[in-house]
Amino acid sequence: MAANRKIALHYLQHPSWSALPKEDRQLLELAAKAARNAYAPYSKFKVGAALRMEEGEVVPGSNQENASFPAGICAERTALHAALAVMPDSTVECMAIVVPQVRGSRPVTPCGICRQALVEQERRQKGPIRLLMGVMRGPVIETFSADTLLPLSFDSSHLARRRKA
Ligand code: THU
Repeated sequence: MAANRKIALHYLQHPSWSALPKEDRQLLELAAKAARNAYAPYSKFKVGAALRMEEGEVVPGSNQENASFPAGICAERTALHAALAVMPDSTVECMAIVVPQVRGSRPVTPCGICRQALVEQERRQKGPIRLLMGVMRGPVIETFSADTLLPLSFDSSHLARRRKA
């Protein structure tokens, strides 16, 4: 008989930025500012991200598109890879994501590829990355790891278990 398994998704929904500690608000502000540097002539959807390393360094990112659409890269991975390119052994503590032009109560959440990249970094640094997804002057969704957003994910442990051809 099949086992009936469930995965619970734990996150916080803050009513506004003011409910957050100062350093989280600053990271959200930086993410919003980073969106100004987005290159999004095709989607016209400017996304900003900002991450904070354990040592306190802050790295911004924005989406960078291309006429060959799949060559474009999201704000989250721009920030993540920029940070790790110069601080390969550091730990990413937190990432904020903001799309200033989006209004309402539903913050933009990372796409599947970015979730995969964030989960890989969590495995690499052996620790969670907190995510803050905020609407300007609106609510913020907080997760305590990227893994929360990508349960049952594929990772390098699957590669290690492959059988020899
Ligand atoms: N995008 C991001 O940068 N981050 C997200 O979380 C969602 C989507 C970008 C990709 C593309 O440049 C544009 O937004 C529209 O999908």
